[in-house]
Amino acid sequence: MTSDQPEHARTGSEITRTGSGPAPTGTDVVLEARGVTKHFPLRRTARDLFARERRSVHAVDDVSLRLRRGTVTALVGESGSGKSTVARLLAQLYPLTSGEIRLGGEPVVAGRGRSFRRYARRVQLIFQDPFASLNPVHTVRYHLTRALKIHGRAGSGEKELEENLAALLNRVQLTPPQQFLDKFPHELSGGQRQRVAIARALGADPQVLLADEPVSMLDVSIRLGVLNLLRDLKERLHLAILYITHDIASARYFADTTLVMYAGRIVEGGDSERVTQHPAHPYTQLLIASAPDPDRIVADEEQEESGTGEPPSLITPPAGCRFHPRCPQAMERCRTELPPRFELPEGQWAACWLYDGAAANGTDPVADRTAVKEATR
Ligand SMILES: Nc1ncnc2c1ncn2[C@@H]1O[C@H](COP(=O)(O)OP(=O)(O)OP(=O)(O)O)[C@@H](O)[C@H]1O
Ligand SMILES: [Mg+2]
Repeated sequence: MTSDQPEHARTGSEITRTGSGPAPTGTDVVLEARGVTKHFPLRRTARDLFARERRSVHAVDDVSLRLRRGTVTALVGESGSGKSTVARLLAQLYPLTSGEIRLGGEPVVAGRGRSFRRYARRVQLIFQDPFASLNPVHTVRYHLTRALKIHGRAGSGEKELEENLAALLNRVQLTPPQQFLDKFPHELSGGQRQRVAIARALGADPQVLLADEPVSMLDVSIRLGVLNLLRDLKERLHLAILYITHDIASARYFADTTLVMYAGRIVEGGDSERVTQHPAHPYTQLLIASAPDPDRIVADEEQEESGTGEPPSLITPPAGCRFHPRCPQAMERCRTELPPRFELPEGQWAACWLYDGAAANGTDPVADRTAVKEATR
């Protein structure tokens, strides 16, 4: 066990010592992506033999993000926007095309074997489908024991192992633990299976949880329970959590920070309340207009105005802003020039030419735009 691990991680049996570590400051970055890009080369066809460049899927382009201790960061976007690829890159399951990932401030060198295991001890990935991620022929006990052993946290002897297994199940609120340890995945409900998958991830005593749509396959009625569990883990274990979802309304409820991804790029970011209540990027506005939110009644014409259509091809993504073919507010330069990130009040930012020069005039351009809309109605 190394000294750079969090305090709650000193021994396996201390898993139950909730909140024993220092309080999170909310500012310390655990995992960071800098300009991360992933292009998947396409298989060559006869037509490609004469092409100069090999064609590829531009799944993720120039993505930068920071995951902080004790904080949930939501990554929101439509299907195919590159969310899972970002998670897999952060988990070191794919090599990067370019860019850099830093863990605890140190650049991560992609590795296999022991170095990958060392990394996985600190960064764990939870998948959407708990049934697929658990082996149907093995019990909960097997899955959790294996995780503890791989990460050297099983303890010495039977008694300590039993204590550590019970501690993991208590941590994910599967109690009493004895009722669950010898169950097979098919004997559990979807929510219980996802809790076992989370317990298995916690077996590594990670600093970061990458949760790829962790509740989207669960019944609506049990989603909240699993999200509340993740929030509890954030608070008690001070985990940095990446919460991937296509449901921006749940990001408001659950995440501290929200990032919005479109066609392989992050187009907006900021405090979740701000991004969901005052979305700056026309794409975020479209996402919100198409998500039901009881607190916000959107007039029909606003929904129409916010654009329609399909996400673009990622093999030949549109030049300039990738959203311009769907954007109701697209200007000439959007077709050719890639918008940089424009800083907005309250830590919000958007990669959209609408905000060019906005910081300079000292007003709140997002609120101003909303006010103009209201006035012209
Ligand atoms: N291994 C791969 N090889 C080739 N293309 C891939 C690979 N993995 C993902 N892609 C492509 O990269 C793009 C982004 O996929 P990704 O799964 O990251 O999106 P997503 O936002 O997670 O979507 P969803 O909401 O449907 O899960 C898609 O066009 C996908 O087809
Ligand atoms: Mg996905």
